[in-house]
Amino acid sequence: MRVRISANPAILQQPVSTKSTATTQTICPWCLTRSQYSQAFRRSKRHFTTSRNNSSAWAAAVSKIQSTVAEVLPSRTGTPTGNITIDPLKIVAKELKFLNKNIRQLLGSGHPVLATVAKYYTQSEGKHVRPLLVLLMSQATAFAAKQSRYDGADLSRTSDSIDTPISSPSILYDNNPDQIASSSPLRDTSSSSETYAFPNDATILPSQRRLAEITELIHTASLLHDDVIDHSETRRSEPSANTTFGNKMAVLAGDFMLGRASVALARLRDPEVIELLATVIANLVEGEFMQLKNTASDETNPEWSEESITYYLQKTYLKSASLISKSCRAAALLGQCAPSVVEAAYSYGKNLGLAFQLVDDMLDYTISGTELGKPAGADLELGLATAPLLFAWKDRPELGLLVGRKFSGEGDVQRAREIVSQSDGLEQTRALAQEYADKAIASISMFPDGEAKDGLEEMCIKVMKRRK
Ligand code: FPP
Ligand code: MG
Repeated sequence: MRVRISANPAILQQPVSTKSTATTQTICPWCLTRSQYSQAFRRSKRHFTTSRNNSSAWAAAVSKIQSTVAEVLPSRTGTPTGNITIDPLKIVAKELKFLNKNIRQLLGSGHPVLATVAKYYTQSEGKHVRPLLVLLMSQATAFAAKQSRYDGADLSRTSDSIDTPISSPSILYDNNPDQIASSSPLRDTSSSSETYAFPNDATILPSQRRLAEITELIHTASLLHDDVIDHSETRRSEPSANTTFGNKMAVLAGDFMLGRASVALARLRDPEVIELLATVIANLVEGEFMQLKNTASDETNPEWSEESITYYLQKTYLKSASLISKSCRAAALLGQCAPSVVEAAYSYGKNLGLAFQLVDDMLDYTISGTELGKPAGADLELGLATAPLLFAWKDRPELGLLVGRKFSGEGDVQRAREIVSQSDGLEQTRALAQEYADKAIASISMFPDGEAKDGLEEMCIKVMKRRK
């Protein structure tokens, strides 16, 4: 008999399959539940279901959102903490300062060119959203309800550290000249000048800091691959890795990064956390695969249906929200938090992740390339129908043909852009993103008050305000 480690199979997400059994009921991660709604949304008295197959519930949700756009626009301006300005970055600034250095150490290789390509995206200033969220979540749950899970998962109770190899170094044969505690049999470890660095902060465990690094490694690996798939010439306003080193090296560097992330993950010695993060990697690929088509049916002239939105949101969960939600959950698990806290962390990450991507898809229509740091309007050029267009399509059936041929006809991109700008697709996208952001804030209402909780709430506000 196969035993799942995660208490809830829905957390692991195999959403491409529509099968559900009595024991493994799949709960739609992007459907909105009735509980914990912000006041503005409580007024609209929506009713949502947790069944992924109940598409009429989604249709009801969408049409409610349409009718209440005016209620939620303009977006909220106040913060949950009143007039005090919270900077989430400052709360964990110490930890983030070490992040890049530690990540670069994890990416050392005896092959200098591989090390250079693998470390390439660590040179530019990324937003570090995912590690920031893991660190804030770790700190925010440090004094929340605790419940020891099972022996062996708590590194603090053993003499092992997050750098202690499990197998013998001579078996691993993994040469990392950048790590002082290298498992390589090929080198003299005493000659390394680098030391692995963590700030001394009792509210964040070393395993949670390492988890933050792992999330950035997985994310960066996916970007290396994504830039090859998207033929991107730039990333963060610099030449992309594929432009600089070529497709082959960029793909291999991404693979190497995943390998090192997996080793670091294994050394956390927590099977449930390993299961979560390994599933994230599979989810990213599934999401990217779904994105190869605009609709599940992949017809040449599809008609708008609620399934097109459901398909898009499923893809969005897999591609963007899975890493955030599962790493927030993993942070709470590593902190030995009680199940209710673990669920809250997961719900926060899932909703924030969905809001984040919806805003991203909106900015692709509204912000200039210079401000974005990457080509604006890239989604349509890549043939992608995202939320603003999917909402516009409902009232403009002529978009179906363009969606079906992925905007590849002469003037398709321009025409689609015009139709979206004449519609309320952008407002609806923003309203839906706001709804998810509010839900994220509501998810963590039970956390003890404190700076890190404020930081998590502020992240939801920042996501809605961001312009890049
Ligand atoms: C950015 O999308 C890309 C992702 C969020 C994930 C891409 C996933 C893969 C390529 C699958 C392989 C995964 C791994 C872990 C190797 P975008 O193109 O919308 O954003 P962009 O504008 O920043 O490029
Ligand atoms: Mg891309």
